[in-house]
Amino acid sequence: MSELDDLTTLVRAATPLLVIETVDEQRVIECFRHVIAQALRPLWRWSLTDGLSRLDFAQTDGAVAPDATATLHAIRAQGEPGIYLMFDFHPLLGYAMSLRQLREIVQRQHSAAHTIVLVGARVELPAELEALALRIPLSLPDIRELAGILRGEAAGWQREQGRRIEVDNDAARTIVRNLLGLSAPDARRIVRKLIYADGALGPGDLPVLMQSKFELLNRSGLLHYEYATASFADIAGVSRVREWVQRRRAVFLSPEATPMLDPPRGVLLLGVQGCGKSLAAKAIAGGFGVPLVRLDFGTLYNKYQGETEKNLREALASTELLAPCVLWIDEIEKGLAGGGDDGGVSRRVLGYLLTWMAERKAKVFVVATANAVNELPAELLRKGRFDEIFFVDLPQASVRSEIFAMHLARRKLDPATFDLGALAAASDGYSGAEIEQTIVSALYDAAGNGTPPDQPALLHALQQTRPLSLLMREQVEALRAWARERCVAAD
Ligand SMILES: Nc1ncnc2c1ncn2[C@@H]1O[C@H](COP(=O)(O)OP(=O)(O)OP(=O)(O)O)[C@@H](O)[C@H]1O
Ligand SMILES: [Mg+2]
Repeated sequence: MSELDDLTTLVRAATPLLVIETVDEQRVIECFRHVIAQALRPLWRWSLTDGLSRLDFAQTDGAVAPDATATLHAIRAQGEPGIYLMFDFHPLLGYAMSLRQLREIVQRQHSAAHTIVLVGARVELPAELEALALRIPLSLPDIRELAGILRGEAAGWQREQGRRIEVDNDAARTIVRNLLGLSAPDARRIVRKLIYADGALGPGDLPVLMQSKFELLNRSGLLHYEYATASFADIAGVSRVREWVQRRRAVFLSPEATPMLDPPRGVLLLGVQGCGKSLAAKAIAGGFGVPLVRLDFGTLYNKYQGETEKNLREALASTELLAPCVLWIDEIEKGLAGGGDDGGVSRRVLGYLLTWMAERKAKVFVVATANAVNELPAELLRKGRFDEIFFVDLPQASVRSEIFAMHLARRKLDPATFDLGALAAASDGYSGAEIEQTIVSALYDAAGNGTPPDQPALLHALQQTRPLSLLMREQVEALRAWARERCVAAD
């Protein structure tokens, strides 16, 4: 573990003041036990409740009162340079005396070359100490350690219950891999939940695991875990998108197996409203066989003023910990069309997003959807940003009859009793959503009459609807003309 080597080096170099922000105190202690095995220093622990005690040897000398002044005095009196892990000590630095004493230790005034380690969930220091402190991130547990946590929890359960736990080895390996990115206590809590639910670890635990992990990681609240991914069987048309995903699935999931192929990174789905872009985004996740996480671009801006970029950074970092997954940015134009009056925030957001898309290593596949091209910044459309820009057009006749068949069957009507060709001919210019709507409204009419809807009822419902492509002919035509030259047809 290279972080431990770093820590050992810092201690050997007699770094006077370290700050570690974490709630995982046990982990800090374990890390430093490793350090003193190399660096051979006395290791001390302090908390307000227990005072100062030695961790590497049983204590021999008399106990020191736990208060700050007595503690710092005792540390200063120690002739042998030691490591002092101070848990939640920082609030006491509000007192002038404690602050002064600590500064003198850190600056080696009548003091041996101790290393003081301040540990707490959030350690804020007075400016004069901050300047002397080195903040170090605590590394998260690696696969080996996580596997150890899982084994430990399983053994604990077996002892407690007096029977064997059922473990599917493949599933257990997948579980451990998916715990990466979590702190040890979080990982332990999740594993315990999975084990205590049914005394077994199997493939059925994976959705619960992903959901628990997602809840822990989504601190910004900007991500939504979409439990229902779709399959390409739920969507008519988009055959090219389906083939594209199928061809890339293996490389996306194990890029190491084919180093000469660039792993797929993302697509932009551009298209007419109601033609199945959102559905296609879900089908892509289903096609890759990974969870779908939606980034709420709208709330990115209005949630906390001034924290937009930080929130985006955190949200994107969280998706990397959920990898492999699909990150779906729905209606991306809404989040990027900030115009000139937002102090440049939307430009910076776009810049960060593009850099992240270009540089991320994790298996996060981005699916962005958009209705309006004129609101999309040119940088986003430039070649190489997305692997492909697909245009999801109004469905052609054959696709329309498929959509009719699909939605009739979904509502327990037998498609074979309808003339699908005639329905398709009568619905030229209708989107998938509008076709679905006519079936729904025919069902309502029929419920009023007490008979199931038939062919004339559906044709009647079609005549009652004026499709968007007619109402907004210019916009739809302009979009199609633009896309024809620049995008790949989705079907
Ligand atoms: N090609 C299709 N095949 C099957 N169903 C479809 C298709 N297109 C649309 N639908 C139906 O219409 C609904 C709405 O479609 P969807 O939300 O995916 O459209 P969209 O392109 O994302 O629209 P918007 O631009 O308004 O977000 C879908 O849930 C589905 O029931
Ligand atoms: Mg949509």
